[in-house]
Amino acid sequence: MLYFNRSIKRDQTPSIKYQTEKQLEFFNKDKLLPLWLNDMDFMTSPEIVANLKKRVSKGHFGYEHRTKKMLHAFKKWHLDKHNFHIPEEYIHFSPSISTALPVLIEILTDKDDYIIIQPPVYQMFAKSIKNLNRQVTENPLRYESGRYEMDLNHLESLLTNPKSKVLILSNPHNPVGRVWTDIELRKVADLCIKHNVKIISDEVHRDILYKDISMTNIMDLSDKISRNTITLLAPGKTFNISGQSMAVVLINNSLISKKYKSFVDKYHINNNNILNNIAFETAYTHGYNWLSHFSKVLETNYMILENFINKELPEINIIKPEGTFMVWLDLREISTDSNYLIEAIAKYGDLAVDAGSWFGHQGAGFIRINIACPKIVLMTALSKLKIAITIIQAIHQ
Ligand SMILES: Cc1ncc(COP(=O)(O)O)c(C=O)c1O
Repeated sequence: MLYFNRSIKRDQTPSIKYQTEKQLEFFNKDKLLPLWLNDMDFMTSPEIVANLKKRVSKGHFGYEHRTKKMLHAFKKWHLDKHNFHIPEEYIHFSPSISTALPVLIEILTDKDDYIIIQPPVYQMFAKSIKNLNRQVTENPLRYESGRYEMDLNHLESLLTNPKSKVLILSNPHNPVGRVWTDIELRKVADLCIKHNVKIISDEVHRDILYKDISMTNIMDLSDKISRNTITLLAPGKTFNISGQSMAVVLINNSLISKKYKSFVDKYHINNNNILNNIAFETAYTHGYNWLSHFSKVLETNYMILENFINKELPEINIIKPEGTFMVWLDLREISTDSNYLIEAIAKYGDLAVDAGSWFGHQGAGFIRINIACPKIVLMTALSKLKIAITIIQAIHQ
């Protein structure tokens, strides 16, 4: 599809990824080719653009409600793509996953309670926990033979602490790209039930799966697990509409549901936005074709990356992703200092990548790159990475 080959001019918008101030803040250099942050450098689906234009052209934007059609499209998408039947009463809305997380932490836990995360992991988890004066408790993933696994024995030792109240799962896992299997999820979920710990399953990347990988619906595993788990979903990553801000919170527990409703009503964070509603409904109604093209582009880009790294930069190990459009790279043979690595890659290669240590100290010596960009951009970025690594290695010889 043509628009997956076309570079888009995001530097002419206030895109955070391209913003001079942000690049200077994080990399000490600007005008970098950005392979950092978690949005795509592709046009979103033409249907979304067309429907937004159509709605804007009406020229009136009074209060509106979320429609049945939106709910229907959301439910149908998850049934068709993931065989996930979502009863309407489970569905609650949030302006974003980053908003839903602290709301859920507030209603599920008290000050000083322990919340378990599995680093290296999306940095907002720890931030939200700390912001609300709860304790971050780490159950680090184990990295063995190029693959990440959960450490279930260590997890159980944390769950036995009566102060542990919630486990936050990232599935598919950002940044390591694992899609947790049915067996892994069942074990985790059973342990959490045994120790009376709730699960928040952040599945914002759930539609971005590599070939032959399927995603288990944790809430389908059993009725008990469903009632103990809150699932977070959103169209942002799937259709590259993250700036449109809308997420769904699935709750199958009347007490939690009541608390969630009362919290969001109290602070009016249940309000909706006309254009977000249009993008949401259109994405889940007409987005199948666009996503299927994107998936092919992702597979191709990953192969380009893998071939390049294996041939040109064999000192880098790739952690093969099962989901997400981010790739986690092990550069520990070059340096174990991620901040040094990202600044040197910026300095010598004019390239912006995420530091592994942003996702927890377990990520030291790793970087994360975003491969949701046109092929030509990825190839340019890889040449830049090669230049930077060659210089870094020459300096340290
Ligand atoms: C695992 C994970 N959760 C949540 C988010 C953010 O979602 P939202 O934009 O809905 O706040 C991201 C964005 O990168 C993410 O990777």
